[in-house]
Amino acid sequence: MKLQYSDGQTPINEDEKEGLKIKSISTMGELDQFEQQNIEEAMSWFFGRSFRTEQVLEVAFIQSVHKRMFKNVWTWAGSFRLSEKNLGVPYYLIRQNVQALLDDCRFWISQETFPPEEIAIRFKHRLVSIHLFPNGNGRHSRLMGDILLKALDENQTFTWGQKTLRRGEDRQIYLHALRMADAGDIHPLVDFAKS
Ligand SMILES: Nc1ncnc2c1ncn2[C@@H]1O[C@H](COP(=O)(O)OP(=O)(O)OP(=O)(O)O)[C@@H](O)[C@H]1O
Ligand SMILES: [Mg+2]
Repeated sequence: MKLQYSDGQTPINEDEKEGLKIKSISTMGELDQFEQQNIEEAMSWFFGRSFRTEQVLEVAFIQSVHKRMFKNVWTWAGSFRLSEKNLGVPYYLIRQNVQALLDDCRFWISQETFPPEEIAIRFKHRLVSIHLFPNGNGRHSRLMGDILLKALDENQTFTWGQKTLRRGEDRQIYLHALRMADAGDIHPLVDFAKS
């Protein structure tokens, strides 16, 4: 399998490629298609349900969502990464960082530190910065943001620029907003998610 990566994507290593369930996949385009089919199943699950914040803010729940999105394609769907990436914390600190994030989220919610959409986006940004999984962190963290927002306020949804973010002009705006969030300004990412 030969994969071409677009801007801001983390490469999949050889061990991780061993976990590919569909051996006929040989290009990034084919991989994208199979992943997309699986993700659509996860999206219909999301649209058909409501969520409670205590349920969402659990390590096992966060892993189960990644598994739901990628289980048809990768054997390691839902499992934390065991290799280093150009983004994210050292792999052996993932669980600890996620626990700290969950504590922060519970605190923000109980104290109403930020409005619901900002809490959901802070959660999303910290997840993708920790980089829990070998691949799919961008897509997983966006859906986790959607789920937390739905749990916090049934009447709000994110639209993420209303495009596929995997390539094109919107991706540049999205990546720029992520880098602003890395630098401490969360608002461009909140605005983009609502646009
Ligand atoms: N500087 C950054 N800070 C935070 N997150 C970043 C940064 N650069 C990239 N990212 C996120 O990491 C993602 C790449 O990780 P990964 O390949 O695991 O996700 P993906 O779901 O396969 O990608 P995509 O977001 O394109 O759907 C990027 O797409 C983006 O969402
Ligand atoms: Mg990727």
